[in-house]
Amino acid sequence: MSESYIQNLFAERIGGKNYGKSTALYKFEKIKRAKRAALAAHPGAEIIDLGVGEPDEMAVPEAVAQLAQEARRPENRGYADNGDSVLKEAAARYLEKVCGVSGINPETEVMHSIGSKAALSILPAALINPGDVVLMTTPGYPVFGAHARYYGGRVHNLPLVAARRFLPDLSSIPPDVLGKAKALVLNYPNNPTGASATPEFFAQVAAFAKEHRLAVIHDAAYAALVFEGKPLSFLAAPGAKEVGVELHSASKSFNMTGWRCGFVAGNELLVRAYGDVKDNTDSGQFLAIQHAAAYCFDHPEITAKIASKYSRRMSGLVEVLKKAGFNAVKPKGSFFLYVPAPKAAVLPDGRRLEFQDAGEVSQWLITEKLISTVPWDDAGACLRFSVTFVAKDQPDEERVLREVAWRLADVALEF
Ligand SMILES: Cc1ncc(COP(=O)(O)O)c(C=O)c1O
Repeated sequence: MSESYIQNLFAERIGGKNYGKSTALYKFEKIKRAKRAALAAHPGAEIIDLGVGEPDEMAVPEAVAQLAQEARRPENRGYADNGDSVLKEAAARYLEKVCGVSGINPETEVMHSIGSKAALSILPAALINPGDVVLMTTPGYPVFGAHARYYGGRVHNLPLVAARRFLPDLSSIPPDVLGKAKALVLNYPNNPTGASATPEFFAQVAAFAKEHRLAVIHDAAYAALVFEGKPLSFLAAPGAKEVGVELHSASKSFNMTGWRCGFVAGNELLVRAYGDVKDNTDSGQFLAIQHAAAYCFDHPEITAKIASKYSRRMSGLVEVLKKAGFNAVKPKGSFFLYVPAPKAAVLPDGRRLEFQDAGEVSQWLITEKLISTVPWDDAGACLRFSVTFVAKDQPDEERVLREVAWRLADVALEF
């Protein structure tokens, strides 16, 4: 079959004429295929999926009821554009009540998002010219960087390593890179490391950004999922509002990933620019969804309950993994447990399997142990376990954890 002329139309940013021709398999596709193969090899067996990056439960019934009620209101039916004041005001109240950030003006310093992913894909259009540099942490959530590259920007990676408690070393950025940098993208509690920031770190970031004229984009998708203390907002740092914005989302905090709703808050000019590009990108999230999300942001006790479930599961998982030899330390928040990957496994028959990287460990865990995790080889070989695994109640949750322990019990892992 002759090649369609469409093939020659693709932009270089997605591969140009070679778009779609690469046979390289991406990490998540490899995991999906390995899971399929493991199930085919062990029909009816249970794959324990510790690789999932989203909540295992539905939104609470009150949120669903709120949506139903709001969806019946004729005034909510149309284009929402950049939104009405309901979510904006709830966001300002939430920042004050939950994160201790006062003085956010809901009209000028808050704008809704169709989820943080959408906001991260829109913000680069407001900031990045060809040749501009974006400072991003690695491993990490890549969306801002992908879009920055679409606009001709470059990404400078800041590795997150255990020795620095997974906080980037801002002093490591070469002066020529810093000179071209426009944005610093951070995410705490962090995906995938589960690490939390500190008020001192955020204060340092705000001062650094001001000194070097950077816009800080703090992706706080997991902010409210904390196991102790109060959620920590970048906006609570001195001077933060002068330099950046923070992205909050109902996805993980309220089990609403599919609902697609969050907000961007902070620096007025950045919020306005985000809104201008957004206005040319989408027509706003359905007001009924925005209003149901606003209801949730006004009920942070919903998140506290979700976080306490994750905390309980996390404690159990840490114990199980420690017994298997992993250096597992319970994080302070998120639902991710990030551990160094083993270098080898000694099997019951005495054979020794060596692993080149975390990717190989993850494939082996799926194939041989029917346990799915996500490997990260960006800054050391590590595995990400998520406590959002499917379990219908607490006894079932304990059963799943016992099953993980049992499956790992007959191998000796070497680190
Ligand atoms: C770090 C991080 N940011 C943003 C998102 C996307 O969040 P949302 O559902 O609000 O788009 C995710 C989802 O996995 C994430 O891990």
